[in-house]
Amino acid sequence: MLYPPEILVSMKKVEATRQARVGQAYPRLSQDERQAILRTFHPDYVENAFRPLRVGPNKGDRTLHELAAVLEARPRVRPGSLDLSSPLAECDVLVIGGGGAGASAALLAQEAGACVILVTKLRFGDANTMMAQGGIQAADKADDSPARHYLDVIGGGGYANDPDLVEALVMDAPGVIAWLEGLGCMFDKEPDGTMRTIHGGGTSRKRMHAARDYSGAEIMRTLRDEVRSRADITVTEFSPALELVLDENGRVAGAVVQNLETQATGYIRAKAAIIATGGSGRLHYQAFPTTNHYGATGDGLVLAYRVGAPLAFIDTMQYHPTGAAFPEQILGQLVTEKVRGLGAQVCDAEGEQFVFPLETRDVEASAFIRECKERGRGLITPAGQPCVWLDSPLIDVLHGPGTIARALPAMVRQYKRFGIDMTKEPILVYPTLHYQNGGVAIKPDASTPVPGLYVAGEASGGVHGRNRLMGNSLLDIVVFGRRAGRAAGAYAGGVQLGAATLAHLDAWNRELDQAGLEAGLPGHTSPVLLPDYTRHVGQPETSLTV
Ligand code: FUM
Repeated sequence: MLYPPEILVSMKKVEATRQARVGQAYPRLSQDERQAILRTFHPDYVENAFRPLRVGPNKGDRTLHELAAVLEARPRVRPGSLDLSSPLAECDVLVIGGGGAGASAALLAQEAGACVILVTKLRFGDANTMMAQGGIQAADKADDSPARHYLDVIGGGGYANDPDLVEALVMDAPGVIAWLEGLGCMFDKEPDGTMRTIHGGGTSRKRMHAARDYSGAEIMRTLRDEVRSRADITVTEFSPALELVLDENGRVAGAVVQNLETQATGYIRAKAAIIATGGSGRLHYQAFPTTNHYGATGDGLVLAYRVGAPLAFIDTMQYHPTGAAFPEQILGQLVTEKVRGLGAQVCDAEGEQFVFPLETRDVEASAFIRECKERGRGLITPAGQPCVWLDSPLIDVLHGPGTIARALPAMVRQYKRFGIDMTKEPILVYPTLHYQNGGVAIKPDASTPVPGLYVAGEASGGVHGRNRLMGNSLLDIVVFGRRAGRAAGAYAGGVQLGAATLAHLDAWNRELDQAGLEAGLPGHTSPVLLPDYTRHVGQPETSLTV
């Protein structure tokens, strides 16, 4: 038997209350209640999970121990070890990262006349974009507007977002959907040909466009095909960037990359660089499991930080409310918010609702944690994982048989592999580390204070404030990927680079020395590149650095 008897008893209670819950809307929390639940239960408020940074442009700012450890680490590259006078390759714009932001940036940089090289740590498309399921927001329906979208984003972000970035996000959104569709992206449509859209947490209008629950994969397929069809874009896989290179005047002059197969390092000379390396879920903040791609180790933050680019919102991460809690083999993997968007409710062990299913993610996740840790009305899996029920079969009750199978094929398959039929049985969920709310601070054209350095997508910070809404990440990567590509392409057209140098790494090492941060400890170099699962997940990296 898959589930232990006590979980089966609880599952029966969820089934027993299902019919009565149809049409029974759980009340939304008031603004005061939202603040109170966040402060008490959200992982961002676990005081001892954070410490101030001791070096770099954000010195003195609080961040998570795990991120502080990689930001304060020694470079992998020794400054004198490379002959920068004979680069491996040269281009106008170097794009670092092969997800949706990198691909979008490469396309627009090429359209701006630039010769582009895109380097990516793993395969082109191995990225969080590919794993995004639920959808992409855009206010392109008659009952909606970018202004409404703007208010939702700001409200969801705790009123802390950079307003200029939010304006760029929402204003570009309808055009981004049209652009993607023009490139061949197949969004879900109604029989009359209009876009099918649903709600996400914190949205005041149905503006989530999807390709069933393969939205990110479909967008990535489209962008990758387009990049591959363009002659002036060279894609180099299994080649992470280890360090940015500057010229003698402090402008970006390319990057040191490593061939992961041969381990050889080399220099790619470029007039501008776009960091599009994604997030850092594989740092497993506070020992959380993660939805993130294997390569999500925060590399871009490290590279940008070492050349002096300030970071924003590095004291906040997003914990997606519905990570898989059972079976253990898929612990922490994404159960898309679209499941709740289609009507699934969240229930405690007694089969009772305890929270409105589409609160913003920070609030929803906090409510799950409260239910398990304070009220004691959650469940515990055989592996010891606290969890609550997500009543997925309710979707077919609300919208007719076959809806789940049609709208959520990836989800259904994910569970079927383990003998669970989510069309008939509710599933067990608990918050999982999903998204890096902050990152490198950018302007609306994705530029940073470092000349020639642009950042797009999850590696950037500011647009989402302290909490991103569903579907604004797929949007962000395309909006700011495009903006970064366009701006970097134009910038590169007018730059005459001086001699390339890694002198900033000498300065960085000196700063670490002055701060008393020891060199040479095992595991104490960054960028991380690949997560180290020989160490217990969540073992505080601070032990390596303090
Ligand atoms: O739940 C989801 O499908 C995730 C979407 C997102 O993070 O935007």
